[in-house]
Amino acid sequence: MSGINYSEKIPNNVNLSEDRTLQRALEQWQPNFINWWDDMGPEGSTDMDVYLRTAVSVDPQGWAQFGHVKMRDYRWGVFLNPGEEDRKIHFGDHIGEKAWQDVPGEHRANLRRIIVTQGDTEPASVEQQRHLGLTAPSMYDLRNLFQINVEEGRHLWAMVYLLHKYFGKDGREEADALLQRNSGNEDNPRILQAFNEKTPDWLSFFMFTYFTDRDGKFQLCALAESAFDPLARTTKFMLTEEAHHMFVGESGVSRTIQRTVDVMNELKTDDVGKLRAAGVIDLPTIQRYINFHFSVTIDLFGADQSSNAATFYSSGLKGRYEEGKRADDHVLKGNSYKILSVEEGKLVEKEVPMLNALNEVLRDDYITDSKGGIDRWNRVIEKAGIPFKLKAPHKAFHRNIGSLSGAKITPDGEVVTDEQWMAKVGEWLPSNEDRAYVASLMGRVVEPGKFANWIAPPVMGINRQPVNFDYVRFN
Ligand SMILES: [Fe+2]
Ligand SMILES: [Fe+2]
Repeated sequence: MSGINYSEKIPNNVNLSEDRTLQRALEQWQPNFINWWDDMGPEGSTDMDVYLRTAVSVDPQGWAQFGHVKMRDYRWGVFLNPGEEDRKIHFGDHIGEKAWQDVPGEHRANLRRIIVTQGDTEPASVEQQRHLGLTAPSMYDLRNLFQINVEEGRHLWAMVYLLHKYFGKDGREEADALLQRNSGNEDNPRILQAFNEKTPDWLSFFMFTYFTDRDGKFQLCALAESAFDPLARTTKFMLTEEAHHMFVGESGVSRTIQRTVDVMNELKTDDVGKLRAAGVIDLPTIQRYINFHFSVTIDLFGADQSSNAATFYSSGLKGRYEEGKRADDHVLKGNSYKILSVEEGKLVEKEVPMLNALNEVLRDDYITDSKGGIDRWNRVIEKAGIPFKLKAPHKAFHRNIGSLSGAKITPDGEVVTDEQWMAKVGEWLPSNEDRAYVASLMGRVVEPGKFANWIAPPVMGINRQPVNFDYVRFN
């Protein structure tokens, strides 16, 4: 059941060969995907052999096989977690009924929209990261970037499979459109704004994979609860791949901080100018990058009050994070939840029906989770004996969606005037100068075991290989 059939053109564990029409449709989409990869995937990578993991089974133990492969030959395919026998819907108005193996007509449009929105983010991030390989701080990091890129490609396959199998002609059209929209394209951009932004340097990349891939985790966790069983099963397997992406982000930022605090101690200084002259990224700049990526990413959860969120939950399409572990009635009709808004120049909490506030519930769960990594980064600083603490900005800081949209609020949660905002924003968000400085550090270091000056080596290699292993062969 969980083994993957690699003898077919499209590797899969869904008995694809038994559905000739679907198989043919996906085989027609496949060359378009490869064309997209050639055009939009990692720049200049065609001839490289990369030490990648490939799924060989969906069992938690031993799903991955490692070896050097060319990325365009990566075995992208369709892998679902095994179905639970007799699975029941466990939240919303249909609670207790059998989970759906097909799409109920009345939920078709909403489910399609959910799948398309998730699917759109997957190729978008590959597009955003396409030039980063040219400035990799090490061969180890280059390999991690490429691993993430091929897996985002596979996540696209996961969503395209659902569209093709369950949504007929509309689904096939949507699958084509996923390859036609492009990140940052003026005429045909990606659906969500954060996925049209540039990922211009490796600090941004590490922040993106720590914060924004974690948004992916929370969205996938909510979809893994879905009454639509094929969606639940495919997102469960995607989550096993997502964990590595967040590891790359967390360890990447951690290694950047490690190098900075080492140099701070070496030079016995916290002077930004001196540290920049020494070629490392000062902690206040790292804090500003955190402020930016954190605030842009929490916008992705949507408006704090949303009737769509209520509909998605009540109809069983999308649950809460860890729905099964919660002790309430899983229907939430009489429940309320606190959201923030600005009234008469002050941040105030107000109680609203929980069903309408489910985006906020997911955002708050995300915030708790993402603060964990910041605590771990602070331990690196603490261990070095440096009195500096990184922190997550207030949830109302620099928001662009919902009731806080456009409000001028400091990272400490204080409402300020436009003038005060303008005077201080350079201390809160990366300035052009910060970005130019970080960009100036980006050079290509790819000899095995060598690392750019601004980042410390990792503690361990990939798959127990040494740090100086030849993770990428350039040929
Ligand atoms: Fe993904
Ligand atoms: Fe990811």
